Formats: sequence, structure tokens, C-alpha cells
Amino acid sequence: MNIHILSIVPELLESPFGHSIMKRAANKGLLNITVHHLRNWAVNEHGMVDDYQFGGGAGMVMMCEPLVKAIEELNATHQFDEIIYMTPDGKTFNQGMANTLSLKKSLLFICGHYKGIDQRVRDHFITKEISIGDFVLSGGELAAAVVVDAIGRIIPGVLNDETSALFDSFQDNLLAPPVYTRPEEFRGWKVPSVLMSGDHRKIEEWRYDEALKRTEEKRPDLLSD
Ligand code: ADE
Repeated sequence: MNIHILSIVPELLESPFGHSIMKRAANKGLLNITVHHLRNWAVNEHGMVDDYQFGGGAGMVMMCEPLVKAIEELNATHQFDEIIYMTPDGKTFNQGMANTLSLKKSLLFICGHYKGIDQRVRDHFITKEISIGDFVLSGGELAAAVVVDAIGRIIPGVLNDETSALFDSFQDNLLAPPVYTRPEEFRGWKVPSVLMSGDHRKIEEWRYDEALKRTEEKRPDLLSD
């Protein structure tokens, strides 16, 4: 998969994809991430990409011209399946959206700043608008990093244990069950005996029951969906 990210603070995106599973995805040639500096398409030699909003009011708006030029130039060579604007008024991101996006070939993420981007760019170029939650970040970069991470780790072939993503929290609208590792007893606290039984059917039943219990306790909204 090819992921392109358009940003006015590309430095913010230097580290998140260089480690752990994202690094493995890149090394396996399954995920290619390119960050573009929007100021390369600025309207003047001062790097201008934003301006005052019509109608008055505090806060700058990211201008049409740099965004449209950047999107058109990048789209001509990469033919994006989706052009995604990261914004707090977008659709709230979830595992289902991550699953769908992980099957695409080519994505462009636009990171907003200030008051956001000129509505005409949204109307004419953006195919999806995503929020990572009901709070406002100082820019879309960290939100894009969250979404790219969630997508990248489930691209087929990225995880070593191909099945493990299937048992993540949210994959079937259930939170994941509790997990334990060695030692079997620590300070007198014992691992549930069923996990030591070797009876795989019983273990699966226990995990399902625990997942259900945890979801009822912590996220009943998932069960009513
Ligand atoms: N930009 C600022 N806040 C955001 C959020 N919550 N989700 C996505 N992009 C954002």
C-alpha cells in the first residue's frame, strides 16, 4: 500500500512510522509512506498557505490553491483510492473503517491546521473525512499517524502471526479478553487455571466469556450497536 500525507509540519511525522510493526511493514515492502510539505505548493515565496477567513473571526484558513495544486499533482501520479481529510468534524474512526482502508492500494491524507481547510477543497476533492475522537488537536498530523498505524498493522502480511489481528479488541465488537504470561504465580496471584489446562475448546470458551463480560462492564455501547 502507498500512503501519502500532506502536511505543514512534516517533522511531526518523522518518527511514528520508523519503529516496530510500521517499520516491519515498510521493510517487507508492504507499506510505503511519503510525507509531503504543503509549503512546496505555497502561493508566494514566503511559503504562504493560509489566509484570514471571509466573514471575519479569529483563526486562519488553509487556502484552496496550495492544497488543490498539491492534490492534483500527487493524484496524477498516484491515483488515490481515497483522499482523506483529518478533521474533528469527520466520521469517528473505528476498527471497521481501519479494516476497509487496509485493503486499499493508495491513500492521501490531508492534515488540517488552524480553522481548517477552505470548504471548496472539501467539496471538490475530499472523499472521506475522519476524526479520531471528540476533541480538538492542534493539527491533523497526530490523528493521521493514529489512522495510518491502525491501517498499516492489519495490511495482509504485516503481522507475523497472521491470525492475531483477528482477535484484537473491536474486531467483532468485543473488547479483547485478559492475557497472562509467565510466571504462573506472582506474589500469590495465580493465572486462571483454565489457561493452563491445555484444553483449547475450554480456553476459547473462557476467552469469549471474559471478552463479553469486559465489554458489558466497560463498553456496553458496543453490544447495543
Ligand atoms: N484535527 C484536529 N483534531 C482532530 C481530531 N480529533 N481528529 C482528526 N483530526 C483532527
